[in-house]
Amino acid sequence: VDSSGVRIFDLEIQGGQTRFKDGPATDTWGFNRSYLGPTIRAERGESIAFAIGNSLDEATSVHWHGMHLPAVMDGGPHQAVAPGETWTPQWTVNQQAATLWYHPHPHGQTAEHVYRGLAGMFIIDDDASEAVPLPKTYGVDDVPVIVQDRKFDGDNQFDHSSSVLAQLGVTGDDLIVNGTMGAYFEVTTELVRLRLLNGSGARLYHFGFADDRPFSLIGTDGGLLPEAWETNRLLLSPGERAEIVVAFTPGETVELRSYPAEHGGALGRFDGFEDRLDLLQFRAADSLTGGTSIPAAMGSEPDLGSADVVEERSFSLGGDKINGEPMDMDRIDFGVREGTVEVWNVVNDNGYLHNFHVHDVQFQVLTIDGEAPPPHLRGWKDTVLLIPESEYRLALRFSEYTDPNMPYMFHCHFLMHEDAGMMGQFVVL
Ligand code: C2O
Ligand code: CU
Ligand code: CU
Repeated sequence: VDSSGVRIFDLEIQGGQTRFKDGPATDTWGFNRSYLGPTIRAERGESIAFAIGNSLDEATSVHWHGMHLPAVMDGGPHQAVAPGETWTPQWTVNQQAATLWYHPHPHGQTAEHVYRGLAGMFIIDDDASEAVPLPKTYGVDDVPVIVQDRKFDGDNQFDHSSSVLAQLGVTGDDLIVNGTMGAYFEVTTELVRLRLLNGSGARLYHFGFADDRPFSLIGTDGGLLPEAWETNRLLLSPGERAEIVVAFTPGETVELRSYPAEHGGALGRFDGFEDRLDLLQFRAADSLTGGTSIPAAMGSEPDLGSADVVEERSFSLGGDKINGEPMDMDRIDFGVREGTVEVWNVVNDNGYLHNFHVHDVQFQVLTIDGEAPPPHLRGWKDTVLLIPESEYRLALRFSEYTDPNMPYMFHCHFLMHEDAGMMGQFVVL
């Protein structure tokens, strides 16, 4: 904390070596370590700053995914950090408690930089969420779960080449959770809250437990849900997060898995998504502490459904473009007015999988093909999977930070699509 009360975090982007499996170590990148980065935690209302150094020999950037902040602090492709430079973004946290993350966003190279290991979680706390009796002891009953898939070559190095047939990007069959292959967690409490992040560039995870036990979805990208939703499957596409609470019994062992996803033919067409993948094993102690009830009321209901809408826009994703245009760093696609609500109609029109992510805001999914969204898409979101040919109506409120010159991004978060040009830019005026 400096003399003006700003809390400063130091992050060094560095190369290193990580041992994932038997044989040679893997060349990797990380923040303050060889792979991934520390979990950053800040309170709503807190002023925070970063000193971000880059010890790599190429430029990269650090984007705060899901964060409401000024565009010059956003860490997108316009905020490249050159080798040897230090970037010092600063802002005051002003959004509800949520599980966000940070990752590089260099123009055309996001997929590769994330694949090498640059990613971390960013947890925001606030008074309202503190008051809700949910598990909240970090590392004990409140646990980050960053899920990534990787492909290794014969020398144990990451293989980031994709086959010409891969429409989604690189998928690998080795699963890494929090930087560890074959990860397990020792459970000591009856209830455990998991903050799930799909940290992959191309793979979907359809989370479930090996015994199909139900769990409670309590939060989506932008924060806690008004009430928990019980399910035994949850689908997250690249960049999406969810908070779940799961109950364990003493002495048991159970796997968290990804199951084949069920969305008609749309997902089954792609290599890899028929797989059942074990992600993380839970090993419960012979006696567990704590209670077993999930509070009835948690977060607030998204409220944009009844807002006055000043502008409607349409976005069609296909062929590595949005509305027929590839990303151009020098083209700002449109400006939105600060303090207003817009509705964006988003369609994936080419049959392959895409999702849609917007910087700076959390949005509300109003309808999908005119119908109310399923329970897991009813909370605040910043990234949503686009099932081919369906129309997603999103409501977004732009507030606080204006800048006529520095844009925010909207893009597909399948990272090879983003890099290939499926991205656009808007400013808040
Ligand atoms: Cu997580 Cu523009 O990205
Ligand atoms: Cu983002
Ligand atoms: Cu895409």
